[in-house]
Amino acid sequence: MNARPLLEVEGLVAGYDGSRVLHGVSMTVAPGEAVALLGRNGVGKTTFMETVMGLVRASAGHVRIDGVDVTRRPPSVVARAGVGIVPQGRRVFAPLTVEENLQISVRKSSGEWTVERVYDLMPRLRERRGNLGSQLSGGEQQMLAIGRALLGSPRLMLLDEPSDGLAPAVVDQVGEVLRNLAGTGMAVLIVEQDLHLAFDVASRVNVMAKGQIVHASTVGEFRQDEKLARSLLGVG
Ligand SMILES: Nc1ncnc2c1ncn2[C@@H]1O[C@H](COP(=O)(O)OP(=O)(O)O)[C@@H](O)[C@H]1O
Ligand SMILES: [Mg+2]
Repeated sequence: MNARPLLEVEGLVAGYDGSRVLHGVSMTVAPGEAVALLGRNGVGKTTFMETVMGLVRASAGHVRIDGVDVTRRPPSVVARAGVGIVPQGRRVFAPLTVEENLQISVRKSSGEWTVERVYDLMPRLRERRGNLGSQLSGGEQQMLAIGRALLGSPRLMLLDEPSDGLAPAVVDQVGEVLRNLAGTGMAVLIVEQDLHLAFDVASRVNVMAKGQIVHASTVGEFRQDEKLARSLLGVG
């Protein structure tokens, strides 16, 4: 890979009042590449995503998007640099309809993704366009959260446990959406507990433990090493 990485994170250190969570995390995602970030609960995966997005302040290290340093810049700047986030717990606005949830996410300056294109990618949302956020199933809420992030026309999507709380058949549907997205050339960084989904979407794996990357390989290599998966994740 000689192309300049789309996301380049170098020695990222961050945490919360008095407690350091990330202890120097480095990672790259190339344009159009899908990478999985795995790790047990509480190791710092969400903190990493939120620090990249500018929601948690880095105390050291660098985050570059297509070569532009966005370290410690506000989330709006990171979004404009090309990053979209689907947060853990898929926050959608419960008292707004599907259509309204999407309309408030439309960015006036960029027309690459439109509400119609989101509906084409996820026809279920078109069927439910008049329903309130509170009336949606978990899978529909997840798709709506993905749709909202897409309307910022990102070049890189950060997805934090999109399978969380979804039935297996619904996880497969979300997986299909993500594979289709990756097929359009969008770069994806996905945090997952569901290895099936992570392996389905990503081609490379990074495993985090205690705020550090302790393993990095291709998905193929990782899948062949059950012992490694068991020792790092407690599964396999
Ligand atoms: N807003 C917060 N304030 C203080 N501590 C937090 C906050 N969010 C997470 N933490 C702590 O940071 C550590 C990493 O959490 P998190 O990044 O959510 O891990 P993961 O996503 O891998 O489960 C945990 O010890 C957690 O309790
Ligand atoms: Mg998390």
